[in-house]
Amino acid sequence: MRTDFSAFDCAYWQTRYATPGRDGWDAGRITPPLQAYFDQLAVAQQPRILIPGAGRAYEAEYLHQLGFEHVVVADFAPEPLAAFAARVPSFPKENLWLADFFALAPAAPFDLVVEQTFLSALDPSQRPAYAQQCAALLRPAGRLVGLLFDTAFAGATEPPFGGSREEYRSYFELYFQFIHFDTAYNSLPARAGRELFICLQKK
Ligand SMILES: C[S@@+](CC[C@H](N)C(=O)[O-])C[C@H]1O[C@@H](n2cnc3c(N)ncnc32)[C@H](O)[C@@H]1O
Repeated sequence: MRTDFSAFDCAYWQTRYATPGRDGWDAGRITPPLQAYFDQLAVAQQPRILIPGAGRAYEAEYLHQLGFEHVVVADFAPEPLAAFAARVPSFPKENLWLADFFALAPAAPFDLVVEQTFLSALDPSQRPAYAQQCAALLRPAGRLVGLLFDTAFAGATEPPFGGSREEYRSYFELYFQFIHFDTAYNSLPARAGRELFICLQKK
């Protein structure tokens, strides 16, 4: 799969992380919709969980605190992974993957892929490939769960890019059944009414 057709490459993201005030997407905490979702997951089943484009990975920190042992954090920018490793030193280092999402080809599939402000970080032309790669990384009946902006960012020339549920549906319906695909009821205040909570099951 091609990975070299985006202007928003590793160097671009490294610069954004290194520039004060350029990480406005970073909530600084796990978002309430994902927190609520993780709270009802069965720790005893120890699912294999992937968080791609994880950035500083507050989701992984929360899952680690809950006792989930098979959580993989993937990002191609070193800065946020280093920040995460410093903040959560007990998280297994082998589960920090410095890698391009589109190049991931793990030996075993995941049960769950978590989406948090990653699709919106990609060049919009990569969205069909994102849906395809999420499906490829999941086992049959595995789930893609998370949040997608359901709003347009007028005039945006760089991430995050907005979108609409109709647009997203066209990418995901090829590979997934829609378990939940609706406006989140428990968003952070700044995102209230402007994001979808999605729970999609691989066909
Ligand atoms: C908008 S940030 C979101 C980070 C985090 N999920 C959050 O909500 O704070 C997008 C992240 O995706 C990473 N990223 C972008 N394209 C990527 C790719 N092709 N492979 C891996 N990581 C990527 C960037 O380095 C950045 O950390």
